[in-house]
Amino acid sequence: MTPVTNTVRFVLDGRIVEAQGKRRTTTVLDFLREQLQRTGTKEGCAEGDCGACVVMVGELNAAGTAVDYVPVNACIQLLPTLDGKSVKTVESLKRADGNLHPVQDEMVQCHGSQCGFCTPGIVMSLVHLVQEVPAPSRQQITDSLSGNLCRCTGYKPIIEAATRACMRRSELKLDDSADIPLLREIARSKTPTLSLDGEIIVQPVVRTRKGNEFVSPATLAEVADYLVKHPTTTLLAGSTEIGLQVNKQFRRPEHIMYLGNVAELRQVTETDRLWRIGAAVSLTAVEHRLAGAYPDFAEVLRRFGSPPIRSTATLAGNIANGSPIGDTMPCLMALGATLVLRCGAKTRTVPLDQFYTGQKRNVLQAGEFIEAIELPKPVPGQVFRAHKISKRFEQDISATCGAISYRLADGKLSGVRLAYNGLAPSPCRAPRLEALLEGRAPGDVKAADLDAAIAESFVARDGLRATWAYRALVARNLVLEFIEEPSPEVA
Ligand code: FES
Ligand code: FES
Repeated sequence: MTPVTNTVRFVLDGRIVEAQGKRRTTTVLDFLREQLQRTGTKEGCAEGDCGACVVMVGELNAAGTAVDYVPVNACIQLLPTLDGKSVKTVESLKRADGNLHPVQDEMVQCHGSQCGFCTPGIVMSLVHLVQEVPAPSRQQITDSLSGNLCRCTGYKPIIEAATRACMRRSELKLDDSADIPLLREIARSKTPTLSLDGEIIVQPVVRTRKGNEFVSPATLAEVADYLVKHPTTTLLAGSTEIGLQVNKQFRRPEHIMYLGNVAELRQVTETDRLWRIGAAVSLTAVEHRLAGAYPDFAEVLRRFGSPPIRSTATLAGNIANGSPIGDTMPCLMALGATLVLRCGAKTRTVPLDQFYTGQKRNVLQAGEFIEAIELPKPVPGQVFRAHKISKRFEQDISATCGAISYRLADGKLSGVRLAYNGLAPSPCRAPRLEALLEGRAPGDVKAADLDAAIAESFVARDGLRATWAYRALVARNLVLEFIEEPSPEVA
């Protein structure tokens, strides 16, 4: 049984750190810098954009024999999410003999640092990469750095340093052998605590004097039970939205429930027909799972955010947040995704294209949550295309992202499903355009007809990131691109 301690326990370089009496919204970055004097980890933006705060968070693998790491932005992660895990900061890299890690050493040799503010985050992103991929390609190196902004050195010497470090393959792995028994020692219970009456008791990681809680259940049953009892609880997965609200809007939710330790929600299961993606599965895991079947979706995910964002953010979080420019929803809608919603012991399914009722509004009822996303697998002859338009290629918010699924039957478009973000109060399908395309040969589709259907379908509104005229033009041109050069069938 996990004891009620009001203490967050995590492993840091061969010792257990006990953080007592901290607020449920204290960030990992603040705790590292202010309580542990790990000031190598920097704060730049405090919103997950610049990468100055990148650290590695580790968990025991399924066999309990090694540590799996993800890179995270410490500025937006809440300290209680570390409970039962380990952390590596740039200070962790110092060798017993005093030598630098090869990534650090080559950064020095290649003049990969000037003011140095970005350097610890860059080093940690690269060190994480080489834990996973000992001989990364240049593309993998640049992708690993897509969330690290450097405004004075320039990336050429940094990439050069990474390339040279990778040649020192035998020196790249971190020695975390001392952490493994400690991670076993602080592991949280994987079964619910029950009262004498058999009632589930979800034990808080942090509980304030006012009774506000941060809970981190391990089972789906606990999640469902707690939400029925506390329906206004804020659900936390990747923290890419809540972390911003805490840092920028000083929001302090009363109850926070972290879903990252719920085994059932971290699973992807499959049948012949579909994948069932749990609500706490990271975008990185989804990207790897779908890359073969839906390469355009994987590319949208790659450009969704940086590796630290993708390693924690989730499909369910993106859907539940319901931003008008959410990137995953057009892809999911075009592919006919369905949500599995749970309230207590009851579940129901809702097609994603019927989930939103307005801007950031949806059909979820009190105590109900997204348990999983069911995504159909490709069928023979199906074509799926998707593309995100943004001012920067990496790490940017969409002007518009469009996605389409169709088949070509006797040279005519069939079974067309088309969806966008950025054109309406929530991501949505475009039924008028679908009807226009259905049954036509791609060569017979006229730009003017698409323009007219777009004008009839949406309310023209200029936005911060693009004018309406630009968005409408992009929406039309994406369709023409998608149907003029169909990529090879996805199945
Ligand atoms: Fe900029 Fe964390 S401080 S990403
Ligand atoms: Fe100054 Fe990168 S070295 S920001």
